[in-house]
Amino acid sequence: MPHDPSFAPTQLAARAAYLLRGNDLGVMTTAAPLLYPHMWSWDAAFVAIGLAPLSVERAVVELDTLLSAQWRNGMIPHIVFANGVDGYFPGPARWACSALTTDAPRSRHTSGITQPPVHAIAVQRILDRARTRGRSTRAVAEAFLDRRWSDLVRWHRWLAESRDPNGHGRVTMYHGWESGMDNSPRWDSAYANVIPGVVPEYQREDNKINTDASQRPSDMEYDRYLWLLEEMKAARYDDELLSKAMSFAVEDVFVSAIFSVACQVLAEIGEDHKRPRADVKDLYAWADRFRSGVIATTDERTGAAKDYDLRAEKWITTETAAQFAPLLCGGLPHERERALLRLLEGPRFCGHPDLAYALIPSTSPVSRDFRPREYWRGPVWPVMTWLFSWCFARRGWAERSSTLRREGLRQASDGTFAEYYEPFTGEPLGSMQQSWTAAAVLDWLG
Ligand code: SER
Repeated sequence: MPHDPSFAPTQLAARAAYLLRGNDLGVMTTAAPLLYPHMWSWDAAFVAIGLAPLSVERAVVELDTLLSAQWRNGMIPHIVFANGVDGYFPGPARWACSALTTDAPRSRHTSGITQPPVHAIAVQRILDRARTRGRSTRAVAEAFLDRRWSDLVRWHRWLAESRDPNGHGRVTMYHGWESGMDNSPRWDSAYANVIPGVVPEYQREDNKINTDASQRPSDMEYDRYLWLLEEMKAARYDDELLSKAMSFAVEDVFVSAIFSVACQVLAEIGEDHKRPRADVKDLYAWADRFRSGVIATTDERTGAAKDYDLRAEKWITTETAAQFAPLLCGGLPHERERALLRLLEGPRFCGHPDLAYALIPSTSPVSRDFRPREYWRGPVWPVMTWLFSWCFARRGWAERSSTLRREGLRQASDGTFAEYYEPFTGEPLGSMQQSWTAAAVLDWLG
């Protein structure tokens, strides 16, 4: 389907702002109007990044809502359910968190798993935007930091301690959804070892909304997703039990790199804003530990990073965007980093001759796992483009960063704000009016 590339930057930004307004339920923005009618953890962070140029005050509300659903153990849950909204499965009844654990909040329904820790990046973007505003807006951002600093540190401490109990410097995930890259080929071998027991009957909602089965995970994948929920419920979402009981347990190298960056960012914020020295010290130590954890997985020749399957005790080698984790957090020896950049920019990824835009496909087009329309198995995700572009700018790679931004904006100029795009044709796929896609555009144009 040809798309209309005609929106100029000002029009595009206006449409993105209008979209976020439309998806706004008051104190939370739905990840997407139909497919994801609640608040998702990492979506909320990106949404806050997109809201910040429009209204620092509203961006702060978004993070406050998310953090008000933080678990007692420190976990930020991957979904905060909107009150009285149906149409998504698995909903609160299926997760049954507050019935099973006192760690779950009483005042909000949430899911019982987590998602990538990009929130410190959002806090930094909010503080950056506030700095360009008047005194009262700056005060709102400062008050947010005062109010939420200890929650943010608690969140990071939970990841560093409960999700890396052996100090490998890598975050363990007990569900593919926790990686954010639900059905990435990265998880195929680990899922192959998940043998679903009796899964209580269920009906998918996602495939009623997106009726093109080639764009969503399969029923077989869903059976495993739902079985893992049953395993978690049997363990009452207890951190220690999960580490023993879950049949899916992987060290996610991409999340580990994000976590390292987020710890570094939060430590820098802490230093700038005179937060407790002990917190800042811990944050820097985690940033280092997880950077080392990422670098320890890399291929000597290519610099590509790997995940680790704790159950099979095997490294997972797939050709996906996650291989580039070390480019986010840094730490590779110079030659290896250059090799990894060549891999990124060469024909296996952004330099593939058939790509519509020079962007990073979720899975390499030359991989046998590549499927150009299927969720995390090939499509280009604008939010990933944003993340790489932002990290590259931070690493001092201005030109690489602006190339991604430019190509990302070209892709988004169709004005659909799609969840993901077919890499060769640029066809918008998944959910349209995805909040985080609009947010990426707003930050780029803000
Ligand atoms: N991304 C998952 C879904 O598709 C849940 O986080 O529903």
